Amino acid sequence: MSLVNLLKKTCRKTLFTTPSHAQGFFIFHKLRNFYKYDISETEAHDPETALSKAESKATKIYGTKSTSFLTNGSTSGIIGAVLSCVNSGEKVLLWKNAHPCHLNAVKLAGGIPVFYDLEKIEEWDIYDKTTPEIIEKYLKDRGIKAVLVTSPSYEGIVSPIREIKKVCEKYGAYLIVDEAHGALYPFSENLPKSSVKIADFTIQSLHKTAGGLNPTALLHCNCEVDVKPALRMINTTSPSYPLLASIEKNINYLNSQKGRREIETLISEIKALKEECGNCEFFGDDATKILVKHPNYTGEELSEILYDKYNIEDERTNSKSTMLLCGIGTNKAKLTRLKQALKGIK
Ligand SMILES: Cc1ncc(COP(=O)(O)O)c(C=O)c1O
Repeated sequence: MSLVNLLKKTCRKTLFTTPSHAQGFFIFHKLRNFYKYDISETEAHDPETALSKAESKATKIYGTKSTSFLTNGSTSGIIGAVLSCVNSGEKVLLWKNAHPCHLNAVKLAGGIPVFYDLEKIEEWDIYDKTTPEIIEKYLKDRGIKAVLVTSPSYEGIVSPIREIKKVCEKYGAYLIVDEAHGALYPFSENLPKSSVKIADFTIQSLHKTAGGLNPTALLHCNCEVDVKPALRMINTTSPSYPLLASIEKNINYLNSQKGRREIETLISEIKALKEECGNCEFFGDDATKILVKHPNYTGEELSEILYDKYNIEDERTNSKSTMLLCGIGTNKAKLTRLKQALKGIK
């Protein structure tokens, strides 16, 4: 039985177990359905079997060896991946400006961080991609156990993961890809190639672009390493089954015809927006991200105009450009509003 159906089923047993709200006592009434589905690992419910089936179905969808559902964001997936393949005293190559969880993961594993730097694309004030050459320079003679790469970046800059993987293979290093911002990639030919079938470990946030609830995410594994012991070390023994069920539903949706159509619609609506806003410039490898620049304003000024005059808040801004995050849930009305605002900025 699917996790979602299991949660919908009425339980006939009288449970003297956690959680004590017993699915019927709602302190915060607006979330009553959340309480209803908030169960524990009782014999009567047995959600672990359904979860394990849902995860193995996910491996078929993604073409991975294992896919683990995470309810503590990509943060926990990155820490879990590093703990799974790095022992104390081993070196890990990571980007100097990566999300803080990369360095935290290395610290928790007792590893030794070795940092690489990336060039800036000055016209947009964003970091450029990671190249196999940069990685090889470090792997050559430093005895590095694992490499962490962020692709796509926040702004939608995608690195050549297949080529980076070849370099990692040559030197016997694990490749961990932070694809937190690329959870839609496996579901469209019109988006960059996902790392899920290439890297040893790929981590994706469902909550960022794929319509998931905060902080749902996935840890995909393509090698023989078992990630579960590491995940058990960092995760609670009382996981949220409503969140886990939402992951099952989320993946099935992305993989459905309806979900795939939704992604294509999003891509074509964003493409149309970019074509219509001739007064602005757009950049990046990811058709679902709007990284925009206006010739008369800095990124910060553009961000302020959007916020103060048009009530639009961006995701991230720098001295040259502004990034508006889109994904499942970014509907036509929202994009039309943005389009009118951008067109109106002289
Ligand atoms: C590139 C990158 N990696 C990892 C994370 C952590 O993701 P999460 O919030 O799902 O833990 C973030 C969050 O902003 C991110 O931008």
